[in-house]
Amino acid sequence: MSVSGQEKLKVLIRRAAIQKRVREVARQITKDFKGERVHLIGVLKGACIFLSDLVREISLDTSIDFIAVSSYGKGKQSSGQVRVLKDLDSSIEGLNVVLVEDILDTGLTLTYLIRILQQRRPRILRVAALLDKPSRRLKPVKPDYVGFTIPNEFVVGYGLDYAERYRNLKDVCILSLPPA
Ligand code: IMP
Ligand code: MG
Repeated sequence: MSVSGQEKLKVLIRRAAIQKRVREVARQITKDFKGERVHLIGVLKGACIFLSDLVREISLDTSIDFIAVSSYGKGKQSSGQVRVLKDLDSSIEGLNVVLVEDILDTGLTLTYLIRILQQRRPRILRVAALLDKPSRRLKPVKPDYVGFTIPNEFVVGYGLDYAERYRNLKDVCILSLPPA
């Protein structure tokens, strides 16, 4: 993996641990929605890898859709502004929806998404986040399914990016930048 400049990566969660935990979360979803259909909504782009691994471990009738929002600029800081860049392709009315996010940080993105998705009257709306950084929370959001609770570090890999890079790392890594 090529790392640019003086950026440093340190493994936080190894691929094998991610794989094992994703299986466990999928098993829990399968149990919770036994005999029903689940509609997974991935929040682009960060959740695409988590969603594609998760859905393949769910033993139920499933469908998927994606929504894209922007809450961060190109860097590490949240602007606090959330905007829909790409909406869902189809209605979620009456469906069992699991919203799939890469990471829950301040909670601004999910608070906004939960509000707009609830207005579309799904039967159930649950949230699955691969990572949770509870120490940074500004809005009270409690995900129903969490992969890993992590400390207040900026992480990349397994779908998560820094300025669109590093999404392809198989491990979740802590990114340190050189002092500005
Ligand atoms: P929130 O609105 O602050 O909860 O932020 C959620 C979004 O910010 C996530 O979907 C990520 O795209 C991004 N984000 C938050 N923390 C990190 C991080 O440590 N690495 C990469 N992206 C992050
Ligand atoms: Mg991002």
